[in-house]
Amino acid sequence: MIKLKDQVLLSEDKSVEILNEHLIRIYTKKNSSNVIRLNINKSNIDITQNENQFSFGNYEISFSNDNEVIITTNKHPLFTESCTRVKSPFEGDTKYKTQINFSLIPEVKTYVYGLGDKAAFLNRYGYNFISWNTDDPTPHNEQYKSLYKSINFFIVNEGGIYYGVFYPCAFKCGFDFAKENKDLITIASKQGEYDYFLILGSTPAEIIKEYSSLVNRPVLPRIKMLGNQQSRWSYYSEKEVRKISQLYKQYKLPLDYIHLDIDHMDNFKNLTIDKTRFPNMKALSDDLKKDGVELVSIFDAGVKLEIGYPLCDNLIKDKMVLTLNGKPYVNTVWPGDSIFPNYFHSETREYVSSEIISFLEKNGISGIWCDMNEPASFNGPFDDNVKGKVTTYGNIYHNEFHNLYGEYMARCVAKAFNRRNIRPFVITRAAFASTSQYAVCWNGDNQSLWSHLENSLSQIATMNICNFPFDGVDIGGFNGDCSKELLLRWIEANIFSPFLRNHSAYGTKGQEPWKFDEETINIYRKMLNLRYELIPYLYDLCVRAHFFGTPVIRPLFYDFPFDENGKEINDEVMIGECLLLAPIVKQGAKSRIVYLPDGVWYNYFTHEKYDGGREIILRLNLDEVGLFVKEGSILPKWRNVQHIDLNKIDELIFDCSYGDGETRFYEDDGTTFNCNSSEYNLYHFVAKDKQYTLTYKFNYYKSNYKHFYAFDGERNVELLITK
Ligand code: GLC
Repeated sequence: MIKLKDQVLLSEDKSVEILNEHLIRIYTKKNSSNVIRLNINKSNIDITQNENQFSFGNYEISFSNDNEVIITTNKHPLFTESCTRVKSPFEGDTKYKTQINFSLIPEVKTYVYGLGDKAAFLNRYGYNFISWNTDDPTPHNEQYKSLYKSINFFIVNEGGIYYGVFYPCAFKCGFDFAKENKDLITIASKQGEYDYFLILGSTPAEIIKEYSSLVNRPVLPRIKMLGNQQSRWSYYSEKEVRKISQLYKQYKLPLDYIHLDIDHMDNFKNLTIDKTRFPNMKALSDDLKKDGVELVSIFDAGVKLEIGYPLCDNLIKDKMVLTLNGKPYVNTVWPGDSIFPNYFHSETREYVSSEIISFLEKNGISGIWCDMNEPASFNGPFDDNVKGKVTTYGNIYHNEFHNLYGEYMARCVAKAFNRRNIRPFVITRAAFASTSQYAVCWNGDNQSLWSHLENSLSQIATMNICNFPFDGVDIGGFNGDCSKELLLRWIEANIFSPFLRNHSAYGTKGQEPWKFDEETINIYRKMLNLRYELIPYLYDLCVRAHFFGTPVIRPLFYDFPFDENGKEINDEVMIGECLLLAPIVKQGAKSRIVYLPDGVWYNYFTHEKYDGGREIILRLNLDEVGLFVKEGSILPKWRNVQHIDLNKIDELIFDCSYGDGETRFYEDDGTTFNCNSSEYNLYHFVAKDKQYTLTYKFNYYKSNYKHFYAFDGERNVELLITK
């Protein structure tokens, strides 16, 4: 007999809690960890009971004889737990405390998407994975079970019916998407509980919006972070950094940030500077700022164990480190023997974030790049008994904190910015599902391989549907030597990824654009100019991601969920709802097939018109990328921008040359949190029969724009804002 109490259906051993119209939690015992920060919204739902069947909205819930949950929607099967305990593929061991199975409908083609940064294809069906943050520098491919991030969220599409699952567990766990057992999805965990969220919605957009709210919305980025960034392990001296900035300027290549990798430090000690190579970091950063370029410095998880190094001394003295058998735990990373701050305690976060503030202010540094925070360890994995202390509830051990270490480190670093009312510029390599509320990501050590370029779009799009909109990969590839053709195809393919950074490892061929030839510089510039003209559009998308959980870079199925042809396209993405990007990702190719979903599309560059719902063949020379605009899209744009400085950009253009339409456009100072006290503008632009109107929907921010234009395909028409 099933009981219903406070929106919870109680069977013999299982609870099904209907939290709101999109969210159900199913558990025998909740994963109780309060180190996972969720935002569970419960609202009143009308539930009707008809014997052992319960219904709400379009959904009906019942239980099988084996006490498994069955959900139908409008009488169609949506979701069925399966009671078959199967041999789980993970570590060849059957003894799992928890196994959760979902049965798939036989003969119905199934697609599975999600799990963050894995190097597999967009459709994960037929593969299995393990959530265990891993630093593995060998060339990633679809066989890799674990990468840097653990994001236990996936979406299933069975014959056009979608649902999402989030497993809120930090312990190591495995996901099998019908690889071992046909028609079965399995979650297996040795230590996690039988406890998961089922996310309902008729489209991926509805599911992702609810999921994003559950794990907390992604951080609002500084608008400047959308600028181009240049990095290398490492730029060894002040002179070299100045030269990079100067060459960018000389070649008229837009640039906003240069990254300082580990060699800027004194002996790889976090928050120190090698004074022989960087005698005056503040003067360097001040000079670069005059040219619109700012510095980001790396900050590693391991802190060098060295008596007399204040960060190390203080962390040990005040017991703010991870410990083993009562002593600071030591493992080896870049600095040699290193200790690891216990970021799980608020006192550590308070102390380290204060140190970061001093470092940033003293040296004029604008952003922090958190690295090696899986945490990586060169001297074997952390011992299971390595222990941290959590502010409110005592001890936490390695098998539980491992996947969360990156998140808590990023949270600490973000605090250094939040405390000064500056939006955090924190990049992190390791992450858990809820980390994007603190930091943006890049996807770690890829290689200069065509297969890695090919994978980059589905990886970034997957991160986006998992609530990590501000993501990117190392342009040109990190390890290995990049060729001219690979670099150019890479910058074209990733030109709209929110985090855009060319980065490479020491010892590899330099891959700044001028390391090749003049043609490379010209094409690279052409691509950067394309990005910079569309930064107002990209920023608007990032703002929407922050407030509503909508992804920026989207797999085709996000905007076209019922399009049979768009379910597993790895090399095309939507940039917001207006642009479709179809780059060349194959060596030597000069043309490709582009699938255009239903609707009318225009070539962004030539305005050639196409009817969608079909494939076309597109010729793309080395200096060309496929970019299509959905009819009726209005694109907010800038022109001639080399660096993102809102004080110097006074024109905004609404490009309405792709048909009549309308849009809302958001504006704020792009840097602080003042927008949360209503300091922002919301405009409404309409283009109809060559008549244009621009009105305010909200106007509490003193705009930097002095001129607004409508671009009709031939000329700019100046707009007056009507109230
Ligand atoms: C790690 C990072 C890489 C960095 C290197 C040196 O491999 O992923 O980006 O350059 O460490 O700090």
